[in-house]
Amino acid sequence: MAFKKKTIQDIDLAGKVVLIRVDYNVPMNNGQIVNDMRISASLSTIRYALDQGAKKVILISHMGRPKGTFVPELSLALCAKRLGELMPDKVVRFSKMIYGPDAKAAVDDLPDGGVLLLENLRFVPLEEENSTNLAREIVLATGAQVFVQDGFSILHREQSSTVAITRLLPSVAGFLVEQEVSKLQKAIENPERPLLVIIGGAKVEDKAPLIDRFVLIADNVAVAGKIAADGYQAKSPKVYVAEDFVSDENGNKLDIGEKSVAKITELISQAKTIIWNGTLGAVEDDRFIKGSEAIANAMGNNRNAMTIVGGGDTAGFVSGMLEKDHVLAFDLVSTGGGACLELLAGKPLPGLDALQDKEQE
Ligand code: 3PG
Repeated sequence: MAFKKKTIQDIDLAGKVVLIRVDYNVPMNNGQIVNDMRISASLSTIRYALDQGAKKVILISHMGRPKGTFVPELSLALCAKRLGELMPDKVVRFSKMIYGPDAKAAVDDLPDGGVLLLENLRFVPLEEENSTNLAREIVLATGAQVFVQDGFSILHREQSSTVAITRLLPSVAGFLVEQEVSKLQKAIENPERPLLVIIGGAKVEDKAPLIDRFVLIADNVAVAGKIAADGYQAKSPKVYVAEDFVSDENGNKLDIGEKSVAKITELISQAKTIIWNGTLGAVEDDRFIKGSEAIANAMGNNRNAMTIVGGGDTAGFVSGMLEKDHVLAFDLVSTGGGACLELLAGKPLPGLDALQDKEQE
């Protein structure tokens, strides 16, 4: 299936202020970026815009779920710092303000050919309300003339920076969005069976409806992570829910146990297509990585299956393992968590739908 949206290559960028929606919702621990995969994945679009003569590149993103209030730990300042380290040849700056005179001053001060990351959009309640007013304020402060959507992992959210903004500017896809959407659509078009979907992670409220959806598509669904620890009840014989756990000193179930690992590993060995999304335990703590490690090893060593891994934390965890173990291999490691699952489950992605169609002038 060909990619149907206009891309950054279909639009003239020379001399323009280009607004790029990235997803720098990276895993953090103790004030440190645990994995910068989502930042490095944004480089090709940013560099391309600058190589095409864009006057300035303004980046917008969210981090975490601060629910419209300022939460210092969820500031994007560290992401701007990391981006600057990854692009040492460019001026990369950070603006504490998202709109208004201070944001405008930061844009005006930025030298031509520079990159400016604005603060976490979700510090403003209007972002999650898909507000056109917020989008307008951002356009006014930045002087943006073109919008490029390159946050693949945010495409399933209908927010100011994914949908409302596209009402105000010519809006196209960046390279990451184009590549991830194209590869994932191809992978799910006609999957070899048995198709196994492994669902973990902490966003319980997002995952339950997706499990129901995958029951219709997959041959087996394995549920682990927080959703299993919280007592998820299978509604179909196709669904296996982790049955034993490793707990901390307070009794919190933070990883799956040996029986569950054995069962999921068995399902992996029988599958021909495997989709894994969401770590199976609290992998930021070394005591709770065993389940995720075992599943990554079983998948990464299964040469008979097409393997897809998705989610900011999961992709970060797996890429850490790939660096250490060069025998492991996955067919696709997606930056998207919910977005990846929703696309694979056949749900529409509002942030993608809002972009200009290829045919449309
Ligand atoms: C993600 O990590 O899946 C995206 O950044 C979206 O975050 P959200 O689930 O908080 O909207």
